[in-house]
Amino acid sequence: MNEFSTIIEPFRIKSVEPIKMTSAEDRRRYLNEAGLNPFLIDSANVLIDLLTDSGTTAMSTEQWAGVMRGDESYAGSPSYLRFEKALRDVTGHREIIPTHQGRAAERILFATLTKPGQTVISNMLFDTTKANCMASGCTPLDLPCPELANTSEAAPFKGNIDLGKLEARLAENASDVGCVVLTITNNSGGGQPASFSNIEGAAKLCKQYKVPFVVDGCRFAENAWFIKQREPGFENVSPIDIARKVFALADVISVSAKKDGMGNIGGFLTMNDPELAQACRNNLILTEGFPTYGGLSGRDLDTIAVGIYEALEPDYLKYRIQSIKYLGEGLLRAGVPIVNPPGGHAIYIDAKRLCPHLSPGEFPGQALVAKLYEYAGIRGVEIGSVMFGSEDAEGKEIPHRQELVRLAVPRRVYTQSHIDYVLEALSSFKQNEAAKLRGVKFTYKPRVLRHFTARFEWI
Ligand code: F0G
Repeated sequence: MNEFSTIIEPFRIKSVEPIKMTSAEDRRRYLNEAGLNPFLIDSANVLIDLLTDSGTTAMSTEQWAGVMRGDESYAGSPSYLRFEKALRDVTGHREIIPTHQGRAAERILFATLTKPGQTVISNMLFDTTKANCMASGCTPLDLPCPELANTSEAAPFKGNIDLGKLEARLAENASDVGCVVLTITNNSGGGQPASFSNIEGAAKLCKQYKVPFVVDGCRFAENAWFIKQREPGFENVSPIDIARKVFALADVISVSAKKDGMGNIGGFLTMNDPELAQACRNNLILTEGFPTYGGLSGRDLDTIAVGIYEALEPDYLKYRIQSIKYLGEGLLRAGVPIVNPPGGHAIYIDAKRLCPHLSPGEFPGQALVAKLYEYAGIRGVEIGSVMFGSEDAEGKEIPHRQELVRLAVPRRVYTQSHIDYVLEALSSFKQNEAAKLRGVKFTYKPRVLRHFTARFEWI
């Protein structure tokens, strides 16, 4: 077969969902009604929804067939047995515990594995993981590799943990470390991958110091593809075998199946230790249900049993990572500063560098996310001083170290022309609007998780 350079979507479309066209004037009204917070806009009024890649996947024909196969028996359903078989095959672990989504797996894990007062070390915990770690009385400690701090300079594995700092911390005192969690890819740090040798290095240190090694594997397939592309020695290894090698290093795997599980809902915990699994199941029954469904319907279990393999197909991964790269490189060419290199599931625009005239107190990320919706109907999410900022004792804002806007691309949902539209809109925004962007101020400031419900006005 001839090899052409155009990488096509490796699927055809058989069910379509219309997108409602809106004018900038309509969108200005919706945005004002939502207090300049895109979380509060109805999705029907969004043209291209890049709020998250979580649970927004378009399911395949085989997954819809799985929906019909779904068996809703309370205990011992064949849907669970198919889920268990697929996950044992991909993870290599014996104990497979379904949960309704990733954060439920995290809550059960921390409640079972760690003790109050312990430290949990990570390359970077995602916000729900951090919140569950703290809710169980532990203190999170992020030790990302130093390359991550420089957003403009590309490096192949910016999702690595700093092994030197990890070793020093474990050598100082390992008995107060509850576990080490490696988040692959590192979502809060720009969707950046960790290398196999880094994951292996962390696993070895954990073994040496007798600390449980946990992989938060929400985007394990995308991470496997980056290892195949970028790490010497893995060129000829298939993504599924790379995933198996990575998972073989982990004592526990915690996953939100709403990402590389290709599910619209779901999550799981896996491990080999039967005693730990029993303790997790006892905890699971409190909130998730019986251990063979864990808060999911049988049909959801079946969609994940199919989806987990689809996420690892080389043709799919090639298209997936290429389409994010295409968007990221196009933005760089248009002069839009992003976290470089592009991640596996999202592009992170650096609002501080795009709008240097705005101070952190004027919330440049929030201003950008609001204006992008009004300008082009694109919905992203602020990852900056609204999401992660806080107040000091006098009520003065303490800004976050970064002001990013994440454009997360749902799996198999948008086509090349949608991505081209995003590129054109952002290039035009950079040319005509970025330098004039006004900041925003709070009109309603919730105390916690404020990005979800806060309201703002233009300064
Ligand atoms: N871990 C990581 C790395 C995540 O990105 C997420 C969710 C979770 C855990 C929690 O999973 O949502 O199923 O409870 N990330 C979503 C996002 C919400 O938009 O990045 P969940």
